[in-house]
Amino acid sequence: MITVSKPDHDIKDVGLAAEGRRRTEWAERAMPVLRQLRERFARERPLAGRRLAACLHVTTETANLVVTLQAGGADVALCASNPLSTQDDVAAHLVRDHGIKVFAIKGEDHTTYYEHIRAALAHRPDITMDDGADLVGALHMIALNRLDDLAPPVRKWVETLSAAERKALVAGVAGSTEETTTGVIRLKAMAKDGVLQFPVIAVNDSDTKHLFDNRYGTGQSTLDGVIRATNMLIAGSTVVVAGYGWCGRGFALRARGAGANVLVTEIDPMKALEAQMDGYRVVPMAEAARVGDLFVTLTGNVEVIRVEHMRMMKDGAMLANSGHFNVEIDLEGLKKVARGPVAVRDFVEEWQLDGKKIFVLADGRLINLAAAEGHPASVMDMSFANQALAAEHVVRHAKTLAKDVHRIPAELDKEIARLKLQAMGVAIDTLTPAQKKYLASWDLGT
Ligand SMILES: NC(=O)c1ccc[n+]([C@@H]2O[C@H](COP(=O)([O-])OP(=O)(O)OC[C@H]3O[C@@H](n4cnc5c(N)ncnc54)[C@H](O)[C@@H]3O)[C@@H](O)[C@H]2O)c1
Repeated sequence: MITVSKPDHDIKDVGLAAEGRRRTEWAERAMPVLRQLRERFARERPLAGRRLAACLHVTTETANLVVTLQAGGADVALCASNPLSTQDDVAAHLVRDHGIKVFAIKGEDHTTYYEHIRAALAHRPDITMDDGADLVGALHMIALNRLDDLAPPVRKWVETLSAAERKALVAGVAGSTEETTTGVIRLKAMAKDGVLQFPVIAVNDSDTKHLFDNRYGTGQSTLDGVIRATNMLIAGSTVVVAGYGWCGRGFALRARGAGANVLVTEIDPMKALEAQMDGYRVVPMAEAARVGDLFVTLTGNVEVIRVEHMRMMKDGAMLANSGHFNVEIDLEGLKKVARGPVAVRDFVEEWQLDGKKIFVLADGRLINLAAAEGHPASVMDMSFANQALAAEHVVRHAKTLAKDVHRIPAELDKEIARLKLQAMGVAIDTLTPAQKKYLASWDLGT
């Protein structure tokens, strides 16, 4: 029998709980859809008796999600999906006031990060909830017996389990949910290779997620993170946005709104064309590198800004990332050729390269979560309503869902939009019978 290690949490300081509670309640005010779901979950208990392991950014919004899952009857263990995104006061609040098993400390090192993932897996979840597929990734390395691909803290623990226990750990998972683009890409690759061990709901693929969270949430909070870290004046600066997907569009819009001259780099002709017609200058990174004051990567890809680009940059250029992993800026390459780093402010490190200074923000990790508070609660309201409904969907349909990556049903997605509009006091029209008939016909009104 696998047991959770004692104590059943690992956080910075439980004494921070009062502040975490105050801030979580503040976020809750802006999360009316999730609040309604919580009330229904408390009545219907759709997750009763389920063990749920979540690997998410430990923020005030996540606290509201976790408490909703608990109201639905789930026994929740929570670990961080990024070493820098944990809000320690929120972790303390969840432990002290709700008895959630939280394993997350802001600034935790690589070993502790994976020790916390191990603790979440040792919760023996029926359902996992990921933001970047770290839990599901580890479960698949276990299923495929690729133990060398596990981080040492997880590997060492798995090695203490019998073959039957390892099998039971993976077989025990009825299904999973995934929050972000990067996680969904990995899961789809697993499904394509025929190795996916259980069904996954791609929360990111809901319209009420990526159209709003990725675009408006990332747009605003990325700018917020850059400003909090650097206090730079955006107006009149040249901002280079790498990637014009949902996140890039949102960030470019906000940077332009703050008065920046925005350049976009892309690899996809359709997105590049869209950026050009949205009024941005589209150029290759090698060209943008010479003129940018601030560079922000939002691609979900690796080595988007490389040493060859850094060598071309102006003295004082700032580099940040808002894509999921810290692989978009080639920091390993920079370390080999530059002198540094010198910490000049919180979340700002100076590197000397070819007689110039360049500044890397938040170690190339998600700038909006490291230096700011992540997305505003109002937008996470919809993302996390999707998460809660996805967990319920997994439980209800575990026996019939194929081992594939699924979207949340369209009617649930629309219902979230309807509830959000209602909470915002926005009314819309309904189709008249004549309009319905017209839209269903091929021979009317031509
Ligand atoms: N910071 C946050 O809070 C937050 C929130 C949501 C998503 N994300 C992450 O942000 C990343 C982007 O997500 P998205 O939803 O915008 O994805 P997306 O697929 O909509 O957009 C990514 C874009 O990057 C482009 N791209 C890929 N490689 C490139 C390269 N080398 N140079 C320039 N452009 C390149 C793609 O063509 C695409 O248009 C993902 O890693 C996602 O997980 C972060």
